[in-house]
Amino acid sequence: DKAGHKHFMAKEITEQPVVVAEAIRSYLPTGGDEVVLPGNLDFSKLDRLTMVACGTAFYACLTAKYWFERLAKMPVEVDIASEFRYREPPIPDRTAALFVSQSGETADTLAALRYCEGKADKIVSVINVPESSIARESDIALPIHAGVEIGVASTKAFTCQLSVLLMLALKAAADRGTLSDEDLADHAAALRGLPTALNTALDQDPAIKKSAQRLSETRDVLFLGRGLMYPLAMEGALKLKEISYIHAEGYASGELKHGPIALIDKHMPVVVMAPRDAVFDKSVSNMQEVMARKGKVILVSDDDGIAEAGDGTWSTIRMPHIHPSLAPILYSIPAQLLAYHTAIAKGTDVDQPRNLAKSVTVE
Ligand code: F6R
Repeated sequence: DKAGHKHFMAKEITEQPVVVAEAIRSYLPTGGDEVVLPGNLDFSKLDRLTMVACGTAFYACLTAKYWFERLAKMPVEVDIASEFRYREPPIPDRTAALFVSQSGETADTLAALRYCEGKADKIVSVINVPESSIARESDIALPIHAGVEIGVASTKAFTCQLSVLLMLALKAAADRGTLSDEDLADHAAALRGLPTALNTALDQDPAIKKSAQRLSETRDVLFLGRGLMYPLAMEGALKLKEISYIHAEGYASGELKHGPIALIDKHMPVVVMAPRDAVFDKSVSNMQEVMARKGKVILVSDDDGIAEAGDGTWSTIRMPHIHPSLAPILYSIPAQLLAYHTAIAKGTDVDQPRNLAKSVTVE
């Protein structure tokens, strides 16, 4: 049932304020700042984290690396499951292995989990399907509460994965005493305000649709982001390529001059994901390098960012202000809607993109 929407993907994108609220309520249940997990996980007894996943779930892990390192001062390794499983990486003592999977059935992720059995101190999974193989074979399975996801392109599962992973990083910070009470309270308050911010982002649909109209006429698109927005740049590119079949790449803004800048000319749209955060000025200078070569910039930022750097861009997409830690969750909305409307403009099959399966149970 598409509940009045043309596609499951549209329905699932618009469901995000509700399902993310549900995820937040279930891990921050008391109205206080304490993250409560189903199962016992004490991060003060762990020294490091190894995270493994595929596709969109892999980008959720990459985002979580920034959170765990910054908030909980915990070293994190992130790997693609198909690489991890055959590389036979050594797992040091006091390591937790964390697997992220919407379906909980992805063959490579499951094999990576089995490789860690008997080697990692704890096997933790972040899953959407509680009865899945990955959930059953973990010491602790953390549900993301996204509800059934039907569109092949993952949307609401991604933002719910991110929300749960951020709360897990906050739990790690609390266990390890790496964040002040004030900082923890700020994060909890920002998380509780997130559903409202997601709704405001969804209201930008008409502006995003206009930008997508332009994207649909191009052959290649570059996505740029720095820090927490770098994994999201890759996720935005993945979403666009899988449903619109336009070639897209996500890059760390700072890597631009190490190669991809050679691609920039007047035909190249560049989506810049840049909230007005601590690395904003650096993102803007990279963006200006693109504009100096006539690249067409779509700037996704907040009021301050657009006021400061919006001049001369191809178009802007305005997001509400948000705690910097939460920006990748909020900015997922324009990433998803850009892909969705571009695909609609091109007339592709949004819910069932060619050659793709919702659950990849073979390698
Ligand atoms: C992209 C997408 C895929 C999945 C990947 C992992 O939109 O949906 O990249 O994220 O196949 O699937 P799960 O999370 O089920 O392990």
